[in-house]
Amino acid sequence: MQDFNLNEDIAYLNHAAVSPWPIRTCEAVKQFADENACNGATDYLRWMEVENTVRVQFAQLLGLSQTDEIALAKSTSEALSTIAYGINWQTNDEILICAGEFPSNRIVWESLATKSVKTKRVTINEHNVAQSLIDAAGPNTRLISVSSVQYASGLRCDLTALSTFCQKQNILLCVDAIQSLGAFEFNQPEIQADFIVADGHKWLMAPEGLALLYVKRKIISELTLHQFGWHMVEAKGDYGKSSWSPASDATRFECGSPNMLGAHALSASLSLILERGVTKISEEINSRVSYLINALETHLDCTILSPKAPEKRAGIVTFSIEGVDSEPLYKALMQAKVICANRGGGIRFSPHYYTPYTSLDLAIARLKAIINNHP
Ligand SMILES: Cc1ncc(COP(=O)(O)O)c(C=O)c1O
Repeated sequence: MQDFNLNEDIAYLNHAAVSPWPIRTCEAVKQFADENACNGATDYLRWMEVENTVRVQFAQLLGLSQTDEIALAKSTSEALSTIAYGINWQTNDEILICAGEFPSNRIVWESLATKSVKTKRVTINEHNVAQSLIDAAGPNTRLISVSSVQYASGLRCDLTALSTFCQKQNILLCVDAIQSLGAFEFNQPEIQADFIVADGHKWLMAPEGLALLYVKRKIISELTLHQFGWHMVEAKGDYGKSSWSPASDATRFECGSPNMLGAHALSASLSLILERGVTKISEEINSRVSYLINALETHLDCTILSPKAPEKRAGIVTFSIEGVDSEPLYKALMQAKVICANRGGGIRFSPHYYTPYTSLDLAIARLKAIINNHP
């Protein structure tokens, strides 16, 4: 069975922004809409099973056998905010982030300045995210928050090295995995991050609005709660009970009615990823990224701004062309149906595992035509 239905005249190279949905995800949404129209919430118990399946699927993606550390949030930003405002900060605590991080993973930490917590932006040296953060850590560093893959350059972080350091120094490690989850392995039992967050609409190929919030078991009860409701209690569904306590697992971070529509969609997308296997997906993305780098350098004399070594890069190729402004070039590419982004001082292409090579050729041909017509 065919998994995608993208128009063939579109070269869709924007999975680092928002992904198209697989056919089965579209079907899941349509069926859920029909079910609601015809039967309302008659089968709510089944919906709850789907919601729980999403937790199981996230656990599988992270290499975990249990779901007790997994909560569902609305977005990466919301998940990060739950963490940032849950930690019991001390005056002069310091947070390290990379300079050039996506705003979600910067603004939430910088907002803690009102609590006398300082957020330091660390310049990444020599394409080594982990070492740059390790070198910048000091006695007041309480938490490091890093993207598994930098959104503009595609530079990957060695999370195992960073986590080993953080554990030795008793520093909390928060990973924004939105630019790699579903595309590259995330072996949490090996990495041992304290927090992992990721929305579903990029490499997980699901709609916006439903995200992973992973919190390590021993930290779950240490985070102060700021949102309350029927869904976050231990005795969910026992509406007559007058006393309550927060759930002992990570569902304590989910205050009210779940995003059931989002859960049906996300579960369908995750099922495709798990069926194919992340190891295979990452190889397929790597081949496409190599193909693009080669074509951009050979046929167009582009400067590749992303790291070129396979162990340093992910699914992102950002490039510039001497004498060509990226903003008008981006607009011309979008008009030519090469769907991409203007990021990090260049054009960002981000193919997924299923992107046909013919789409890559189409993008290169259209880019060439635009450059050749450039005055
Ligand atoms: C690294 C990173 N974090 C977070 C987000 C999105 O955050 P949210 O899920 O809150 O919209 C993006 C989107 O581009 C991103 O690249």
